[in-house]
Amino acid sequence: MNGNFTFHNPTKLHFGEKAMEALAGELKNYGPVVQLSYGGGSIKKNGIYDQVVAALESAGKTVVEDGGVMSNPTLERMLEGAAKAKANNVDLILAVGGGSTIDYAKAVSVSAWCEEDPWEKYYVRFEEPSCRIIPVGSVLTMVGTGSEMNGGNVISNHKANIKVGKVFGPAVYPKFSILNPRFTFTVPRRQMVAGFFDIMSHILEQYFSGTDDNTSDYIAEGLMRSLVVSSRKALENPEDYEARSNIMWTATWALNTLIAMGKTTDWEVHMIGHAVGALTDATHGMTLSAVSLPYYRLIKPFGLNKFARFAVNVWGIAADGKGDEQLADEGLAALEAWMREIGVAMNITELGATEEMIPKIADATFLLDGGYKQLTRDEVISILRESL
Ligand code: NZQ
Ligand code: ZN
Repeated sequence: MNGNFTFHNPTKLHFGEKAMEALAGELKNYGPVVQLSYGGGSIKKNGIYDQVVAALESAGKTVVEDGGVMSNPTLERMLEGAAKAKANNVDLILAVGGGSTIDYAKAVSVSAWCEEDPWEKYYVRFEEPSCRIIPVGSVLTMVGTGSEMNGGNVISNHKANIKVGKVFGPAVYPKFSILNPRFTFTVPRRQMVAGFFDIMSHILEQYFSGTDDNTSDYIAEGLMRSLVVSSRKALENPEDYEARSNIMWTATWALNTLIAMGKTTDWEVHMIGHAVGALTDATHGMTLSAVSLPYYRLIKPFGLNKFARFAVNVWGIAADGKGDEQLADEGLAALEAWMREIGVAMNITELGATEEMIPKIADATFLLDGGYKQLTRDEVISILRESL
């Protein structure tokens, strides 16, 4: 492990079936006005809304209702939420939902009091906030993004045909997150498996880079193995608490900066996936699954040792005197088999993308240099064509 780094993750987690009991206590640390942000209504059907409101009432809070946050939150919706937070002078934003709601809450938290255009400042110039930041707390209901313990947030700008992720520093991380695996039992199967692949992708983005012997990579391998075991159990029985609990914890550690320590990271699959999402508004995890295999097959020769190690350490493939090339192929075949088994999207056509969209998707794809190979625009196009 050769890099220099600072690891600081200030989010306090309350985990388990009794995690909600901690909410009332957490609320005492903030002023009287709480903006309650949530999605399209699943929390009203499964009873989570009532539990949250009971905690808010017992803590004597004034609640500013802010429901209806869509998946892949838009710039327009974020600006509306920021205006609401400012007008009500809110003391805390409590995000109850998946990555979309928590990301939205973070974006609102740094935009409400921002004196510049938030889009330009955060998502074009990628600056840190210089204004008052409203604290965010979260109650997680859908597993995958890791937003519950990181500074990431992704906002879609449909006018500009782009979806941009900005990773803020620790000041914007949720102050606390409530993680009750039972809350994920009602997530529809398609969303559940999209979340599984999102977790896998986060780990792969940080694993396929670097050549040094790095503790972060060993942790990544353990997380992937746990995910594969528990994803199979959860598919068989979505109410398998132990499996859903392992997956929730794996998702959090997959993207709370731990496994990125001491190394460069790739994130090109996410860049292509976000561009597909910008044009199609498809489910995030599915945009990643649809482009991952053509991408990894393209970069495989540039990180061959790591791909061979992936086969042996993650998928348990016997090395048996095989060369790296063969092992690498077998590892990617094992990944593909698992993807088909859990049932994620294998091409962008099933997400609504067309051949005509490909140049626009390529234009919306940021080209990063942290992985084994920096792509060219032509290579992005060939990955997208292969994924049609
Ligand atoms: O809106 P509601 O009604 O709540 O329904 C949601 C939504 O339809 C539903 N859902 C969530 N919890 C449920 C539930 N349905 C029944 N029971 C429950 N307990 O699930 C659907 C998907 O929710 P969403 O929040 O959109 O999913 P996800 O958590 O995958 O978040 C996706 C967003 O996060 C961004 C993505 O780009 C996308 O915009 N990401 C954020 C990251 C970060 N902060 O670091 C990193 C990721 O790579 C990702 O880019
Ligand atoms: Zn992701």
